[in-house]
Amino acid sequence: MLKIISPLACVLLLVACQQVPEEAPREDKAARGQVLAYDEPYRPQFHFSPAAKWMNDPNGMVYYEGEYHLFYQHYPDSTVWGPMHWGHAVSADLVNWQHLPIALYPDSIGDIFSGSAVIDWDNTSGLAPAGEVPMVAIFTYHNMAGEKRGDLDFQTQGIAFSLDKGRSWTKYEGNPVIPNPGIKDFRDPKVFWHDATKSWVMIFARGDRVQIYRSPNLKEWTLASEFGEDQGSHGGVWECPDLFPLRLADSEEEKWIMIVSLGRGGANGGSATMYFIGDFDGTTFTNNNPAETVLWLDYGTDNYAGVTWSDVPKEDGRRLFMGWMSNWHYATVVPTEKWRSAMTMARDLQLKDTEAGLRMVSVPVKEMTKLRESPQMLAAREIAGRSLLTEGSPLAEYELHFEYDPEDPPQKWGLRFSNDQGEEYIFGLDAKAKEFFTDRTNAGKTNFSKHFAKVHTAPRICTNNSVRLHIYLDVASIEIFADNSEVAFTEIFFPTEPFGKLEAFSEGGTIKLSSGTLYPLKKMQITTLAK
Ligand code: FRU
Repeated sequence: MLKIISPLACVLLLVACQQVPEEAPREDKAARGQVLAYDEPYRPQFHFSPAAKWMNDPNGMVYYEGEYHLFYQHYPDSTVWGPMHWGHAVSADLVNWQHLPIALYPDSIGDIFSGSAVIDWDNTSGLAPAGEVPMVAIFTYHNMAGEKRGDLDFQTQGIAFSLDKGRSWTKYEGNPVIPNPGIKDFRDPKVFWHDATKSWVMIFARGDRVQIYRSPNLKEWTLASEFGEDQGSHGGVWECPDLFPLRLADSEEEKWIMIVSLGRGGANGGSATMYFIGDFDGTTFTNNNPAETVLWLDYGTDNYAGVTWSDVPKEDGRRLFMGWMSNWHYATVVPTEKWRSAMTMARDLQLKDTEAGLRMVSVPVKEMTKLRESPQMLAAREIAGRSLLTEGSPLAEYELHFEYDPEDPPQKWGLRFSNDQGEEYIFGLDAKAKEFFTDRTNAGKTNFSKHFAKVHTAPRICTNNSVRLHIYLDVASIEIFADNSEVAFTEIFFPTEPFGKLEAFSEGGTIKLSSGTLYPLKKMQITTLAK
């Protein structure tokens, strides 16, 4: 549809079309190059969180010359969502992080919504001088004024490039590279190089489905296909898709995974992330499961908008993922003062053959072992009622192996993390329902949102009588991987004091802790920009 452009809009467009380097970062010079204390109440100790103010989705995750880049949706003027920028941090190991200045600022086309980044190794875009390699960010422009006016075309896709390892960015003069055809929700581009067809591929969300575009040069894009109208869940708008191949462990079988975040209507309410397993020929994605199958990446309510790192070296070979550890149901009202939100730990996504068929599982990255202190063995025991496993470990990684008599299973058993204030977080297995459950109804502050104090459940996939749990406990979150990651729960909570005490419990029968290891964890190091 042609639109009449006003003189003012022409001026704005002209300004936008110049290749203007980004503004100088707003940084407190005195605080540069320092290890940050990060010791406020509820401050995550081994999860990335912004030094101050608002953060949501991880963006532009790309690996280049020894650095994992993490950009993120950021509003530097408030702890509540507002005009979006791309915040920026880097890490050599996915565990310790260094803050860098804001990478992308809003401009006359719009605010900078979610997107991705790639290394354009062959300079197909021509954005770098000959012989150089640009890092290219592909993001959504969100024009707030257009949205307020009631326009439909206020989201478009734009690109920017950096020639200095992501430290400074220049917006492309021809932005937007994909104009909006009149669709209200048209966002979150994830781009990758598809070697088999020698083409860039972009997947992004269009209402309650995704679209796939192709390009030879990151600047000119052609619509290739659409997926999802009748597939998966449609409880909310689709957001932040990703598409990548994953090889089945110890096999030649490779599948394509499409990740899609769902604004609302998740397995346990609010926003959540689902995925599809299928095939991709460079143009079209085909789902291998029945259209109505919904596979959830995480059953906790705090793993949203996660996508994977681009350009992880082939010799590493991992598909590395990180999500936003919150939920649109309550993200803007959680009780932290200086900043809001954290990311999940980095995860290694793997394809696994389970009793229910192929599933994608997420495993904490091996680099997390760097934070381990000396392990403590937890004595094996039989539990009927309650048994104290350990006390005084607010930052902890647990590897626990439980078994029960299949002829006489306990009705309910699990773990109770608690503090001296009588607050608790419970995780367990309900044998009759064949469900894992988590309960944060009495886990500290909950009254900031009616959606928060809830019990969450997940069907157990595996049916044997041996349950392995891998758990990471931070001061305001927990990540639980059950049955070798077949079921994951990522959840936040706000106890008055950290949950240092861990008990196991068993109701209506006996459960056996056959082995248990506790690794107290050190806090990560998070620094400001080096001098
Ligand atoms: C997902 C999301 C994206 C959007 C961004 C805006 O959480 O809604 O779809 O690009 O957040 O901050």
